[in-house]
Amino acid sequence: MTRHKGLLDWVKQVEELCLPDNVHWCDGSQEEYDATVKMMVDSGLATPLNPQKRPNSYLFFSDPSDVARVENRTYIASRTKDEAGPTNNWIDPDHLKKTMTGLYEGCMRGRTLYVIPFSMGPIGSNIAKIGVELTDSPYVVANMHIMTRVGTKVLEVLGEDGEFVPCLHSVGKPLAPGESDNGQWPCAPLEDKYISHFPEERAIWSYGSGYGGNALLGKKCLALRIASVLARDEGWLAEHMLILKMTNPAGRSHYIAAAFPSACGKTNLAMLVPTIPDWKVEVIGDDIAWMKFGDDGRLYAINPEAGFFGVAPGTSMDSNPSAMASVRKNAIFTNVALTEDKDVWWEDIGYDPPGKLIDWTGREWVQDKSDKSQKPAAHPNARFTAPASQCPVIADEWEDPKGVPISAFLFGGRRPRTIPLVHQARDWNHGVFMGSIVGSEITAAALDLEAGTVRRDPFAMLPFCGYHMGDYLRHWIELGKKSSPDKLPEIFVVNWFRKTRDGKWLWPGFGENSRVLAWIFERCEGTADARETAIGWMPTLDAVSRPDSVTEEDMAKLMEVDREGWLAEIKDIRDNLYPTFGDRLPKELEDQLVMIEERLAD
Ligand code: GTP
Ligand code: SPV
Ligand code: MN
Repeated sequence: MTRHKGLLDWVKQVEELCLPDNVHWCDGSQEEYDATVKMMVDSGLATPLNPQKRPNSYLFFSDPSDVARVENRTYIASRTKDEAGPTNNWIDPDHLKKTMTGLYEGCMRGRTLYVIPFSMGPIGSNIAKIGVELTDSPYVVANMHIMTRVGTKVLEVLGEDGEFVPCLHSVGKPLAPGESDNGQWPCAPLEDKYISHFPEERAIWSYGSGYGGNALLGKKCLALRIASVLARDEGWLAEHMLILKMTNPAGRSHYIAAAFPSACGKTNLAMLVPTIPDWKVEVIGDDIAWMKFGDDGRLYAINPEAGFFGVAPGTSMDSNPSAMASVRKNAIFTNVALTEDKDVWWEDIGYDPPGKLIDWTGREWVQDKSDKSQKPAAHPNARFTAPASQCPVIADEWEDPKGVPISAFLFGGRRPRTIPLVHQARDWNHGVFMGSIVGSEITAAALDLEAGTVRRDPFAMLPFCGYHMGDYLRHWIELGKKSSPDKLPEIFVVNWFRKTRDGKWLWPGFGENSRVLAWIFERCEGTADARETAIGWMPTLDAVSRPDSVTEEDMAKLMEVDREGWLAEIKDIRDNLYPTFGDRLPKELEDQLVMIEERLAD
């Protein structure tokens, strides 16, 4: 076990508060994983999948009220409301702790308290951070095994007095003597759910949800909300970004990091299979990047995670064969549908359901293509959990503790209009401006937002920044002064999601996005053709090769500067987005707004 007094004391305290029946210290072994999963199979929570089709893989159905992150129950409880800023929910930390302590009292009755020591980043690397999650959810244990590096080795690194981020989690559903879950996903009602962060203390308290980022506390809670605070204080970056490696036909490589809001294409871009011959894309990470300046003045990125927690619907052999290969075995599926021969199915998996299904709510489901209002068999935010090492296009250097030097940052979101296929910032501050105005049609990745409307999500970090968003923007401006322009990443905006009037995609996306990546790659090399426009640098007419499926007319539309659209965009930013940040909005960004407006008027 451990001789870390701080850790032992904390576990004891939680034991006394939550009153679990047992305490189990996780060692991270395969035996532990197997035993944990077997217990959930026996209790009816997990369905083992067909071992011929999907060895060592399991399906879970969550409670219909617990299917995604809950942003309106997520709190940044800094000392003052001002530190949390206008875009975070805030409760006074003492007050919140009191409320939550009340909820935690006896909340683990009838359950086991698992102690999960985990490392974000390769164990022992000086960039890695250690967390310890205390949870009463065996589902969390199994997922943390895949998503992070768990176990005894972490305790060894921690030693007797090493630092760790305490992450307390309970599903909030104590069991009476003799009671069992009976195959039901345990969680608490919405009004009792709290996903709380104490940034000064670097602590996380989560109660009432067992799903995704609400419960796998290494991910959004530690690696983004808490890490963003550390990054601000220590001069680095913790971002909601994928990291990919692109290699051109001549064998030269660049690393690219991209921030898109939740369910807007990070996993898919990270694993992209290029449609252009002899180019190669490999993945380093699909959701989170931690970046620090190297001695050479370049920004180096690591992926703090060890697995993928990816959106299942839409994933197919066509759209993302590498994700499909990653989930062939040793995978966990949550809220996808079950086939009669005990395999998984979801919408747009690339083939019709092979007969009757059990949908994610546990009911029989037969596809009826004539019924446009038929509910999907998989929940739109259904997810797979798979070890990154199983991905056929994982880059050799994905666990290099040095990280990889980033040549380009990409920002994007689901924008049916206005935002062109690709444009490039004129300089760093213009790039920060671009990141600050990221917007997207809302997706199913958060429970409490209305899907379909465009919301601003600066740097795709709005739900994940652990402090004042205005200060976050300032942090990005300041970072640009820490190195020289030739060493800093070039900054681009991409948009795969333009639509026609009748709602069809203008751009095929997925593997075809490689055409845009190739232009970006060559801009980093200084070889691609570009024209200067009011909104930044854009490809000349033929600089991005046109897929067969896109007409010349549509290509022109994808590449045009929509002046009216941009003027409306600027008005919206000025009237609605920037005032949110009050006097914390960096003046540099307001200046950018004025400059773009002037250029559009020319
Ligand atoms: P989080 O894990 O929530 O942070 O999401 P993500 O950014 O990794 O999103 P992901 O790659 O899982 O994509 C979410 C959805 O967008 C899936 O249903 C994809 O099929 C779809 N998608 C991804 N890339 C493209 C694209 O280039 N074009 C279109 N039309 N859809 C895409
Ligand atoms: C997201 O919502 O951006 C995710 C899924 O990546 S979760 O881990 O639930 O945050
Ligand atoms: Mn994400």
